[in-house]
Amino acid sequence: SSSSSSSFDLAGRHVVVSAGGTREPLDPVRFLGNASSGRQGAALAARALARGARVTYVRAHTEVPDPAGAHVVPVSTALQLRDAVVSAAEGGADVVVMAAAVADFRPAAPSESKIKKSDDDGDGLVVELVRNPDVLAGLVAARREGRVAASTVVVGFAAETGDASGSVIEHGRLKAVRKGADLLVVNEVGGGRAFGTPDNTVVILGADGSERSVGPAPKETIADAVWDAVAMRLTHGRV
Ligand code: CTP
Ligand code: CA
Repeated sequence: SSSSSSSFDLAGRHVVVSAGGTREPLDPVRFLGNASSGRQGAALAARALARGARVTYVRAHTEVPDPAGAHVVPVSTALQLRDAVVSAAEGGADVVVMAAAVADFRPAAPSESKIKKSDDDGDGLVVELVRNPDVLAGLVAARREGRVAASTVVVGFAAETGDASGSVIEHGRLKAVRKGADLLVVNEVGGGRAFGTPDNTVVILGADGSERSVGPAPKETIADAVWDAVAMRLTHGRV
């Protein structure tokens, strides 16, 4: 396979990478979280820096250090992450990569004081959740409506498990169309795959119908394959 990863092919480019898992507060000391380690997002930021890009790293909760040289914007909740990504994208990013694991739901009304065991009236505790905005879909809409430059390349990730209605890749293809991103990086999760591990196996789906399988390989190698696909679109234009 051809790779331009040894050159400074992202020099002069501003890329935004979101990484890690959001936390949605239930009360002042508790939250709803997820198993994202942030490793793939950190590897994407590190490889973009190595290829010459200026990197805005919108970082939720991760288990790995921030890549040296990135402009770090720390966030916690999905709403904070959305605000940081949108303002960086509207500020003129060449690329936005949504590697973060963004909570689909947040508690509707986080408690201002600690929830007590005695809040259980005998039927357990019921927490109402409301939908978070879809940041990736919002970026695609903002680009369509002109708030984000038409030339901005938008990349999504999809963590899928196969189920009765389809395989990992079938779900990925449907999600790619639904999301409208230029690239969707599909990985299989569950059974100890992807989350928290140094290696990853993905299929990079292009809006042009292209499909490239990468791995099992270190997350840095996956990151370089993503930047190869991005660099091609920066050079030749989005489809
Ligand atoms: N994403 C996002 N905002 C959300 C949820 C997800 O921007 N509120 C982004 C993720 O960062 C990822 C992509 O959307 O790049 C796909 O995330 P995924 O959870 O696989 O897809 P969903 O559309 O949330 O669908 P579902 O979880 O129901 O499969
Ligand atoms: Ca989701």
